[in-house]
Amino acid sequence: MPRPQVFITRRIPEIGLRKIAAACEVEVWPDLMPPPAAVLLEKSRGCAGILALLTDRIDAPFLSACAALKVISNFAVGHNNIDIAAATARGISVGNTPDVLTEATADLAFALLIAAARRVGESQQAAREGRWKTWEPLGYIGQDLLGKTVGIVGLGRIGAAFAKRCRGGFDMQVVYHNRRPNRAAEQALSARRVDFETLLSESDFISVHTDLNDSTRGLFNAAAFARMKPTAVFINTARGGVVVQSDLVAALRSGQIFAAGLDVTDPEPPDPQDPLLSLPNAIVLPHIASATVQSRDGMAEIAADNLLAGLRGEPLRCWVNPEVARR
Ligand code: GLV
Repeated sequence: MPRPQVFITRRIPEIGLRKIAAACEVEVWPDLMPPPAAVLLEKSRGCAGILALLTDRIDAPFLSACAALKVISNFAVGHNNIDIAAATARGISVGNTPDVLTEATADLAFALLIAAARRVGESQQAAREGRWKTWEPLGYIGQDLLGKTVGIVGLGRIGAAFAKRCRGGFDMQVVYHNRRPNRAAEQALSARRVDFETLLSESDFISVHTDLNDSTRGLFNAAAFARMKPTAVFINTARGGVVVQSDLVAALRSGQIFAAGLDVTDPEPPDPQDPLLSLPNAIVLPHIASATVQSRDGMAEIAADNLLAGLRGEPLRCWVNPEVARR
């Protein structure tokens, strides 16, 4: 039997690459930057599987040009880079990498919360630039964390892990906004489900953990920021598209909200001239939430298992579109 042909769109941890190379004919895109769209198509055409990143756009025209494709294994938990409906319609399985990055992502969201609330980025920059002249009784005053109210938009796996840190470590009240209730988190964290407007107005801190889809795109816009407290800290480790970025910049500039901590933007990376990168009350990181040894190795293993299962026509370990089996 000839070994299936697969394209891997970037180098991933060895643990995953080795598994795939043992069973497939593999081409790995070697560059730091993603393959341009035309190159991605050229390399994928004729492949039975591709292992893709969140920076690779896989849409309906791409899928119709890749007739041999059986499986797309996304090296990410999010999969908004893939047209799932189009893949399902063509009988192509899609896999993702949940769970293994939950704790690392919740840690980073919490790091952003403390850093933004306590002005860590701004004060470090002052020290680096020689603007630390003396101890200032009125300088760099931030927000306390203990006993505050945190609002979670998207209380799923990562949102609940973040809420657990807020509740257990800092005795915060947890409110959340979800389409469906999360009864386990309500019990474990005394979390209260509220409508979006209530979450905006009651929360001291707001953290986004929802998918990017048609109902969440642009959810945080000027009207949403206007409802938030002037002391509010806004954290986003989910997807940049959930926020109207120019409205966030305006809210941070005018003091309508206190600060923001972002691991994601729209686009990524932002234009170097984007004011978000120079606002003293915004911390922006280059989408690093899952960047720990354990998480990335775990993602590589799951992505490899998903790819290999899809090539064999078997259920994927983490299957985004299991309905494909019913076709
Ligand atoms: C990262 O953002 C992921 O979706 O895994």
